[in-house]
Amino acid sequence: MKTKSIIFDAYGTLFDVNSAAEKCKDKIGDKWESFANFWRTTQLEYTWLRSLMKRHKDFWQVTEDSLDKSMKVYKIDMGMKNDLLSLYKVLSPYPEVKKVLEDLKKKNVKLAILSNGTPSLLNELVQNNNLKDLFEDLFSIEAVKVYKPDSKVYDLPVQKYKIKPQEITFLSANTWDVSGAGNYGYNSIWVNRNNLVFDNLDFKPKNEINNLTQLLDLI
Ligand code: LAC
Repeated sequence: MKTKSIIFDAYGTLFDVNSAAEKCKDKIGDKWESFANFWRTTQLEYTWLRSLMKRHKDFWQVTEDSLDKSMKVYKIDMGMKNDLLSLYKVLSPYPEVKKVLEDLKKKNVKLAILSNGTPSLLNELVQNNNLKDLFEDLFSIEAVKVYKPDSKVYDLPVQKYKIKPQEITFLSANTWDVSGAGNYGYNSIWVNRNNLVFDNLDFKPKNEINNLTQLLDLI
């Protein structure tokens, strides 16, 4: 089936979530990467737990709550908290992102983001990185106040564009997000940047790529 829209996850797929801690690695020391991974895992766990508990807080609050716990676990000076949070608002995109989006745009398919991030976080990220004009929509889970992988989230672009789930090609570096979107019905592609192992969640992606440049050969 022909792809009518290409939709990207944001955090970890277009934008490097570890880049905030990496920019502070001189102060944090060798543990910066382990700390960054712990922060990310805790942040995601909080999204899943809050969705199950039906106690929604937006992604910015969840990011701060998970940072607070992670800094305590890793015994990082709490004085750095605001610096780390500010850096999270200006995460760097992966190096290939801009060129790939520009090339895809020339192929006349709708490009969008579908993310846990709040509308203002997503806006700032694309604006700071000069990517805003490339996207038709920035879909945020705030429209449904429940986090991925709830099917209400994947439903958002289907409703807006009035297309079938199979007409959407979805890209995520997060295995569980690829599974969620694939189970929903998207043509879901895994961006396996770090040579990881896929999940056992009733969906195996037809395509796996190591970076977004390889998407150009599939579309
Ligand atoms: C997002 C997270 C899952 O952007 O990376 O939705």
